[in-house]
Amino acid sequence: MDFNSRIYVAGHRGLVGSAILRKLKREGYTNLVYKTSKELDLTDRDAVKDFFENENIDYVFLAAAKVGGIVANNEFPADFIRDNILIQTNVIDASYRNNVKKLLFLGSTCIYPKHAPQPMKEEHLLTGELEPTNEPYAIAKIAGIKMCQSYNRQYGTDYISAMPTNLYGENDNFDLKTSHVLPALIRKFHEAKSENKPSVEIWGTGTPKREFLYSDDLADATIFLMQNYSGNEIVNIGVGHDISIRDLAATIKDIVGFDGQITFNTLKPDGTPRKLVDVTKLNDLGWEAQTTLEDGIKEAYKWYLNNIETKIESK
Ligand SMILES: NC(=O)c1ccc[n+]([C@@H]2O[C@H](COP(=O)([O-])OP(=O)(O)OC[C@H]3O[C@@H](n4cnc5c(N)ncnc54)[C@H](OP(=O)(O)O)[C@@H]3O)[C@@H](O)[C@H]2O)c1
Repeated sequence: MDFNSRIYVAGHRGLVGSAILRKLKREGYTNLVYKTSKELDLTDRDAVKDFFENENIDYVFLAAAKVGGIVANNEFPADFIRDNILIQTNVIDASYRNNVKKLLFLGSTCIYPKHAPQPMKEEHLLTGELEPTNEPYAIAKIAGIKMCQSYNRQYGTDYISAMPTNLYGENDNFDLKTSHVLPALIRKFHEAKSENKPSVEIWGTGTPKREFLYSDDLADATIFLMQNYSGNEIVNIGVGHDISIRDLAATIKDIVGFDGQITFNTLKPDGTPRKLVDVTKLNDLGWEAQTTLEDGIKEAYKWYLNNIETKIESK
């Protein structure tokens, strides 16, 4: 990938895609292509075909997907499996038919088996039952990984798949109905502070541990992989250490400046006790995350404050 390669970032307004686009621009890549879902609906096969036939794309970062938390996955399973299968099938196949040099597909660590050993290694994929609440999404994503591997085997393409851990950062989804835990906590603490509430309730005991990667670090890792890795094996992207939800909540409370209490509703389920990825493979390739959780949350909160009215409700 050189500075005037034609690079398509699919999903450039999302958490991941926007971070990749910012990073590519910052690093001096100038020949970038990106379209909103309104301009190019990636579930529309003909539209995707026309786009690739006309754009002479060399490299694809496939960060467009239908993404959401547990509630959204539970309520809209059909949308999650259909849209993701359509988006990735259309983009991967059109890339092949139009001689794209390399494509990076984004899987997710939430598609590892529900009871995968911790920390999760790449070889744990497809070794056990999936988490039932996001099974349709996971099946779609696994199909995307298998599609990349199969195209590589049959057609000799160079399509790689990365498995990021939980992400957070600019352009995150702060809608409490569909968001992940970290942006949801930022919003809850911010609203509690603005409304002078005495406390913020957290679901569960606060003891489960999770890993969080800042989206700019993820972007850096995807560009690193595009430049330094080719192969059929998936690659985990994470920080390699985790934090309890209790400590995460306390960190966000301090950064937001909320003075009240944190309460734990232990009648609500905790979910998996621990979720952490093994990042040995990525570290051995020569990449490590650089942003501390505190610094990343400060940046994410800054973005939230600057975009609270314009973007949050429309996402
Ligand atoms: N967020 C995480 O914690 C996380 C963790 C691991 C892996 N990942 C993976 O990273 C990828 C991106 O996730 P994200 O968090 O960045 O999601 P996101 O913030 O919801 O962004 C998704 C993007 O996909 C685009 N998109 C959705 N449907 C589309 C369609 N039909 N046609 C064209 N574009 C469409 C949207 O474009 P518009 O804005 O133009 O509508 C949006 O910008 C996903 O594959 C996800 O599995 C995410």
